[in-house]
Amino acid sequence: MNRSIAIDGPCGAGKSTVAEEAARRLGGHYLDTGAMYRAVGLYMLSEGIALTDAEGIARAVSKLHVDVQYDGENRQHTFLNGEDVTSQLRQPEVSKAASAVATVKEVRQQMVRRQKELSQELFLVCDGRDIGTCVIPDALLKIYLNAAAEERARRRFEQMSDKSCGFEQVLADINARDYNDMHREESPLCKAQDAVEIDTTHMTFEEVVSEVTRLYRQRAGM
Ligand code: DC
Repeated sequence: MNRSIAIDGPCGAGKSTVAEEAARRLGGHYLDTGAMYRAVGLYMLSEGIALTDAEGIARAVSKLHVDVQYDGENRQHTFLNGEDVTSQLRQPEVSKAASAVATVKEVRQQMVRRQKELSQELFLVCDGRDIGTCVIPDALLKIYLNAAAEERARRRFEQMSDKSCGFEQVLADINARDYNDMHREESPLCKAQDAVEIDTTHMTFEEVVSEVTRLYRQRAGM
């Protein structure tokens, strides 16, 4: 049994903020695996490799080195060939590129290998799409964090400083990413059989974090 926590779910369900805070309260490290796929996507964009060219992406990723390190405040920094690219990973083009590269088997194999290593070294609260099913299938606690698509789009839209693209576009992007993540051949997003599903549509952030830490303490006998 691995003592880590696996949190999966669709984009915008609150996985990253919940995982980060749960890690802080429980004394673990938050691992944002999406950032690793985003780094791969960023590389393909910067090299002009077409996001539809699975073979080109597979060739390129075999020469790529994606890694994470933690700073003194336990914050994750994501590195692409030795360069800290953390601040470049949240643009919408990078989100789309990440969703595309995450469908490529060779990309997933390489990211999952490193994530598994990290889960052996550290107590992780890890979020992604395949954590409970593939990366840490023996995690002490698996959570599937969900929320209605409209609510996830509303939260995303509220966070955006530039609202020029409009709410309908944000909702359409979320639906498109859900579809990609759930219908790809390689490790599609799905709830692990033994995951606890938490629907956050009508929950506050504090309620969700408290529930995750309560479940963990109960399982760990803390
Ligand atoms: O969680 P995120 O939005 O940062 O993830 C970016 C993309 O990477 C998303 O489209 C799904 C993909 N991803 C994945 O396939 N597996 C993971 N473990 C994490 C993210």
